Amino acid sequence: MKRVALLGCGYIGTQLALAVDSGRIPARLERVYDASEEAARVLVSKLDSKPQITENPHLLSYPPVDIVAEAASQGAVREVALSVLQNRRDLMVMSVGAFMDEAVREVLEEACVDYQARIYLPSGAAGGLDAISAARREIEHISITTTKNPASLRGAPHFEMEGMDADSITERTILYSGGAAEAVRRFPANANVAGAVSMAAGREAEVVVVADPDTKSNTHTIRVRGGFGSMEFKTNNVPEPSNPRTSRLAALSAVRTLYNYCAGGVKTGS
Ligand SMILES: NC(=O)c1ccc[n+]([C@@H]2O[C@H](COP(=O)([O-])OP(=O)(O)OC[C@H]3O[C@@H](n4cnc5c(N)ncnc54)[C@H](O)[C@@H]3O)[C@@H](O)[C@H]2O)c1
Repeated sequence: MKRVALLGCGYIGTQLALAVDSGRIPARLERVYDASEEAARVLVSKLDSKPQITENPHLLSYPPVDIVAEAASQGAVREVALSVLQNRRDLMVMSVGAFMDEAVREVLEEACVDYQARIYLPSGAAGGLDAISAARREIEHISITTTKNPASLRGAPHFEMEGMDADSITERTILYSGGAAEAVRRFPANANVAGAVSMAAGREAEVVVVADPDTKSNTHTIRVRGGFGSMEFKTNNVPEPSNPRTSRLAALSAVRTLYNYCAGGVKTGS
């Protein structure tokens, strides 16, 4: 049975832990860590099988853990991912935006080779990454438009950078148009899909971020064209009430990726 450690005990981390605890994912949750000890304690209190709360995130990847599942932040990926790989553990990353930093991406890709470890990037809140990945050598253009209610974008550094207030947006407004790398800096908790899409395509996607006070969903529209033809994927996601920045689908995707890692068997999609 695979052994799992969890970095980040918020909404997605809790869904992962509950899926393991209930047996839906055939694994054992060994350890958890969160920068907020309270978040870690609250999570553990919900579980029948109690994992250890580690004192620091680097202890997560000590034996007998097989995989560390990150569901924390881009900063956590920068701080912890390399040491996980150096300990020859696999890593699942939800804060995919971290990979838009070329230096981070290169170091982690090299570490995977050097230490024979693997990094899993779930599709998260979007669909179509399997097809985009299959077509990557023939892609000529790829874009993603993300539309969210201003409440779901609240707190993004973009607003401070532009001297704006998310709560003052009263009509559909294009907040950002540009590359994925800058998008994940301006919207670290909202533009992970742009990072995942770019990683699947092997090139930086063009990103548009829209605030729409009339929408209740988190919508991602991905358009791809190239020698293979063209594709369009639209996902209308329900935001998670406890954390409206995150879509329910992102947690479902995290659970499915960890399930595939732990359960083996037939895996659908390229
Ligand atoms: N790939 C995707 O499509 C996708 C979709 C939604 C969310 N995400 C990302 O997944 C991550 C988790 O999302 P969530 O909804 O569970 O968030 P959340 O805010 O509910 O929980 C995050 C938890 O991580 C902890 N944390 C933050 N930085 C940390 C650090 N450096 N070290 C340790 N703990 C830290 C916080 O204290 C919090 O408890 C976020 O980075 C989010 O942006 C990705």
